[in-house]
Amino acid sequence: MDKIVAANWKMNKSISQSEKFVRKLKKVDVRNNVIIFPSFIALPAVSQILEKERCGAQDSFYESSGAHTGEVSPEMIKEVADYVIIGHSERRAKGETNEILNKKVKACSAAGLKIIFCVGEKEGEDSHAVVKKQIIEGLKGTDALTDFVIIAYEPVWAIGTGKTPETDEIMEAVKYIKSLYSCEVLYGGSVNGENAEEILKICDGVLVGSASLDFQSFLKIARS
Ligand code: PGA
Repeated sequence: MDKIVAANWKMNKSISQSEKFVRKLKKVDVRNNVIIFPSFIALPAVSQILEKERCGAQDSFYESSGAHTGEVSPEMIKEVADYVIIGHSERRAKGETNEILNKKVKACSAAGLKIIFCVGEKEGEDSHAVVKKQIIEGLKGTDALTDFVIIAYEPVWAIGTGKTPETDEIMEAVKYIKSLYSCEVLYGGSVNGENAEEILKICDGVLVGSASLDFQSFLKIARS
């Protein structure tokens, strides 16, 4: 079965750089189910080139409309993308609580978006305890929505550091998460062209940050 290979571009690539990347991507064969998460400003352009089902937003607000300067609603995203990332550790670090994330998950699934919900412990924290709390609180009341939810296990200490857990540790974390919530589980944190093949064998896909910015390195992962 195809695996999910999600590219989180974070605050990188201009509109034209994003367009150039996805134009090249469209021309090549990839084995896996690739989903691109560009910046909000590049998302409509990327979505015009790729299909909507291969595009996602890096965040969403939880209200549909109104006086919320700077925010983007799930309904607005759904016009150009089928996916959204909720609860990335870089947003949690800016003060997003499990309670806020829960509102976002509910609003996004109501709008028909598929959610990649990120969980993971910081260096030195108990992985099971942290992940369990993030899932129980962040995904509260969403048991009927498991078709809309994908969980990404991303140990914070592995993001952008070049460090990854051992394969059996990832396998164990994926199994534990599936025992708490029945959905597909991705791994994220320093995935690259060298380790992607091995990691993809033990989970349902990968969420890739830095290695997704360079076309050739991303292609290698997408073909793993
Ligand atoms: P990284 O980022 O691949 O650069 O470690 C992953 C992520 O933040 O999702």
